Amino acid sequence: MKTHTATAIAHPNIAFIKYWGNRNTALRLPHTNSISANLRDLHTCTKVTFRDDLTADTLHINDQPAEDGALKRVSLFLDLVRTLAGINSNAEVISSNNFPMGAGIASSAAAFSALALAGSAATGLSLDEKALSRLARRGSGSASRSIPAGYVEWQAGSDDADSYAVSIADENHWALADCVAIINASHKIIGSSLGHTIADTSPFQEVRLQTAPQRLDECRQAILQKDFERLATVTELDSTMMHSVMMTSNPALFYWEPASISVMKEIPLLRAKGLAVCYTLDAGANVHVFCEASSKQKVHKLLAEFPGVQSVIDSEVGGPARLV
Ligand code: DP6
Repeated sequence: MKTHTATAIAHPNIAFIKYWGNRNTALRLPHTNSISANLRDLHTCTKVTFRDDLTADTLHINDQPAEDGALKRVSLFLDLVRTLAGINSNAEVISSNNFPMGAGIASSAAAFSALALAGSAATGLSLDEKALSRLARRGSGSASRSIPAGYVEWQAGSDDADSYAVSIADENHWALADCVAIINASHKIIGSSLGHTIADTSPFQEVRLQTAPQRLDECRQAILQKDFERLATVTELDSTMMHSVMMTSNPALFYWEPASISVMKEIPLLRAKGLAVCYTLDAGANVHVFCEASSKQKVHKLLAEFPGVQSVIDSEVGGPARLV
């Protein structure tokens, strides 16, 4: 029996400028670029072993056999890896996360970037960063952004070959932290994949897409110049624009909980008092609060005392996906 194995670690990422809606669903080609930061202190570790004696792929997540839907998504992704490598063995996939899944912390980003790296390496392929980012994108769009280091921009591109993410600045460029106010840690009802397919039903999506290049420029400049105020303004605007699209799509998607709104209202007040903080929300109720890494403990404490906040998870900005 031949076995080929590899293990990789990847971080989730949180977007300042969001990805919401695809031009091509099957290839996960987004309408626009997006910009994010990797979260150093959160990770997924995935071991892939291709074995000739397996009759089907298997998947364990956090020591539990995965549900059929997750296994199917992983198996379809492994088909891409098998095609690239020219093999047809099945694989055993063992994955674990140190953060809650499906709660607006992009677990699929960490999962598919770790799977792209471990899966391709296990077959003996040695893909460069661009090829890995393209591959990870096919599993989950945001996973393309968890391959490069630090602050990352996913270039929408026009086809499969040129839609991949690149690092704008590495993780040591600017010491920021994300304090995630956990308001609801359960699995969300409508996931991003379905959300992307209905984004274009919102009358606001066209405006969001038309004005995205300005926000992308603003965000890129703010990161390169380490200008927190500029980053804060554009990040909050982009988050609210994406949620406006979500709330006006058909069916309408409301991810915010009352406590999410309370935190969102408080953050700009704290900023006006001189604390460098800003918020963004993904497809979930949890509020990601960015701050300078030096004020992480203070922000953590403020959020933890907030009514409706169950817990707070912190992370600084992290490096690329890597083999272990
Ligand atoms: C709201 O990458 O999770 O987090 O490609 O279907 O897996 P799939 O979608 P996914 O979408 C992320 C949506 C978002 C915004 C973002 O991370 O840019």
